[in-house]
Amino acid sequence: MALALITGAGVRLGRATTLALAEAGYDLVLHANRSLAGLSEVRDAAETLGRAIHTVQADLSTSEGVENVAATVRSVATSLDVIVHNAGIFERVAYEAITREQYRTMQAINLEAPFFLTQALLPLLRAAHAPSIIHLTDIGGERAVSRYAHYGVSKAGLLMLTRQLAVELAPHIRVNGISPGTVAFPEDYTEEQRASLLRRVPAGREGTPEDVARAVIFLVRDAPYVTGHVIALDGGRSAQL
Ligand SMILES: NC(=O)c1ccc[n+]([C@@H]2O[C@H](COP(=O)([O-])OP(=O)(O)OC[C@H]3O[C@@H](n4cnc5c(N)ncnc54)[C@H](OP(=O)(O)O)[C@@H]3O)[C@@H](O)[C@H]2O)c1
Repeated sequence: MALALITGAGVRLGRATTLALAEAGYDLVLHANRSLAGLSEVRDAAETLGRAIHTVQADLSTSEGVENVAATVRSVATSLDVIVHNAGIFERVAYEAITREQYRTMQAINLEAPFFLTQALLPLLRAAHAPSIIHLTDIGGERAVSRYAHYGVSKAGLLMLTRQLAVELAPHIRVNGISPGTVAFPEDYTEEQRASLLRRVPAGREGTPEDVARAVIFLVRDAPYVTGHVIALDGGRSAQL
């Protein structure tokens, strides 16, 4: 049975991706940090689909947290088919106000954790039949958005990590990215902020977590000749000036 690891599986995009992978027949290792009720709920939902599920709690801003996730996977399997690096943080701060601590925490969770978690699990990925890695990047990793310098830099790094690992881990391991625009608005967005964003989206709507989950399934299951590629999942927003 194929096995997939999803970080940040308890809420929103991670939750939808978990359910899509369960429906596609994967057994799962599900990670969460704070959303333990969400993790428990999505584990139960995936189990009703007949999948074997393991869970792990870890703070991915620390190297101990990253190693804890890797150790959990090693304790339940000798091979790993899919990693979806979904966990990430998003924070609006003017460039001149970003502290070193904020900068480092951003890079630790959004970039260092995927970097070293994949490294820690390489022997298991190499033991799988057709392994595949997905990074959740952001269209803001290729275009500047004011007040998100530390976030944009982290996602730009993740974009390059996608290409770097697609080359260095080839031909056996494929590595791709999904680059969302606005998928499920942050809960604190006002109606005016939502309307203003949607005016810039040719598709005329926000994305949904299920849109992301469908792209994950396409990349890991249906696209064996695609590697080193990042899909813009943004309703056309990045296609226009
Ligand atoms: N939603 C969008 O429109 C959008 C747009 C562009 C890119 N993305 C990217 O897509 C991914 C998922 O987005 P989302 O909107 O579903 O995110 P979200 O609702 O903000 O959830 C963040 C996820 O990251 C995990 N996380 C945060 N800090 C962590 C830490 N210190 N250690 C371990 N896990 C941590 C959270 O786990 P717990 O809740 O368990 O703590 C949660 O599962 C992110 O990488 C995000 O940057 C999303």
